[in-house]
Amino acid sequence: MMTSPKIIAGNWKMNGTAAFLKECLSYWQGLDLIHDLVICPPFTLLTEANKNIHLSKVSLGAQDCHQKPLGAFTGNISADQVKETGCSHVIIGHSERRQYHGENNDLVKVKAETAILSGLKPIICVGENLAEREQGSALEVLKNQIEECLPKSPEFLIAYEPVWAIGTGKAASLKDIEEVHSFLRRLIGPYIPLLYGGSVTLENYKEILLTNNVDGVLVGGASLKKEDFGRMLCDQ
Ligand code: PGA
Repeated sequence: MMTSPKIIAGNWKMNGTAAFLKECLSYWQGLDLIHDLVICPPFTLLTEANKNIHLSKVSLGAQDCHQKPLGAFTGNISADQVKETGCSHVIIGHSERRQYHGENNDLVKVKAETAILSGLKPIICVGENLAEREQGSALEVLKNQIEECLPKSPEFLIAYEPVWAIGTGKAASLKDIEEVHSFLRRLIGPYIPLLYGGSVTLENYKEILLTNNVDGVLVGGASLKKEDFGRMLCDQ
């Protein structure tokens, strides 16, 4: 069954070269895209990507921004700088940022507020880890993340990314996705787009997109496979 248009975000993480970007852009150009793509390459490729994206269904996202609008923060990138590259979106609070850069809910909220002030739509990531899932406290953890991370303005998206499903090849079951998404939907209301992320592949993306309250997917590893990702965008 063909799915109705959804959001497919591709998170390249710390992967990708200018040559790979060029290949992907020309490949997507030739496709009949059904879904809306938000491509999130590394910072270094954003300007080049923006110059060469000529498709209405493709927009650009960064993978992070700093919580302050500007200042002495060596090595960081501000939300305004991200916006200036042509981005419309920015991923905030990805579990890899939480894990390797000590980002907590309070910081995620400030970053999301800063991004919105700069005219970006944050894709705010939430998700329980394996121990929390096994203890049966996933929904409680998620509720807490939602209460602590969400900005006042409703100009954001949520990505539910169970930490144990990211990069492991073990996506959450459709039943778990449905349970969590309907729980999150009740917490955030009817209008905020809700994406699922964690080992989404060409094999499982269709049934995930057909699950209740799933408005799209956030794809890591599989977004680096040009043909697979292209097929997802065309719903093939
Ligand atoms: P994955 O990553 O698709 O490789 O599991 C998803 C993500 O980290 O956003």
